[in-house]
Amino acid sequence: MKHLKLLLLAVLAVFAASACSQNKEEKTMEKKKVLVVYFSATGTTRQVAKQIARLADADICEIVPAKSYSGADLDWNNQLSRSSVEMGNPEARPEIKAVSVDVSKYDYIFLGYPIWWDLAPRAVNTFIEAADLAGKAVIPFATSGSSGIANSVADLKKSYPKIEWQTGKLLNRVSEKEIADWFSAYIK
Ligand SMILES: Cc1cc2nc3c(=O)[nH]c(=O)nc-3n(C[C@H](O)[C@H](O)[C@H](O)COP(=O)(O)O)c2cc1C
Repeated sequence: MKHLKLLLLAVLAVFAASACSQNKEEKTMEKKKVLVVYFSATGTTRQVAKQIARLADADICEIVPAKSYSGADLDWNNQLSRSSVEMGNPEARPEIKAVSVDVSKYDYIFLGYPIWWDLAPRAVNTFIEAADLAGKAVIPFATSGSSGIANSVADLKKSYPKIEWQTGKLLNRVSEKEIADWFSAYIK
């Protein structure tokens, strides 16, 4: 009887072990769903966003302002230009075209933008507030003339604490290998 019990226990243990490893295998084989969302006024961030999407086999979606920015709108030397006025007002939320993407489907969201006055352009705030990103892993990336990304990410983190912000990266003139190495640290 004692031997029979031991045998039964051993059989159960083998079953349990194989179920666990199979579970693990299923987990690692599961493909993560990745979305790249970006805003770009003059095309630089768009180019990087497209590279990330291609390399990560991700879906891509552009944040498009309802009224596009003209050259004069982007003149940072003019305190009265549209971008200067928007960036001078933390409450500014320029209207954007409806984004037809269901963010809840994705495991990771890469969020890209150009640095404007050391911050993310306000259209990015408009997008974040329209999409429900609470609890989502959001990985910021940016392009700039020379500024870093840190201040813009700190500002976004402070404004939207329910989002699981990941370390952001400035992607100025980076190689495809650098991009691939960077995002593969997130998407396993
Ligand atoms: C209104 C405005 C403000 C900017 N402010 C900064 C800044 O604070 N620091 C910086 O390094 N570059 C700044 N730039 C440069 C852009 O970040 C840079 O050219 C970026 O790559 C443009 O991206 P895009 O082509 O995707 O719009 C600014 C550009 C504009 C139009």
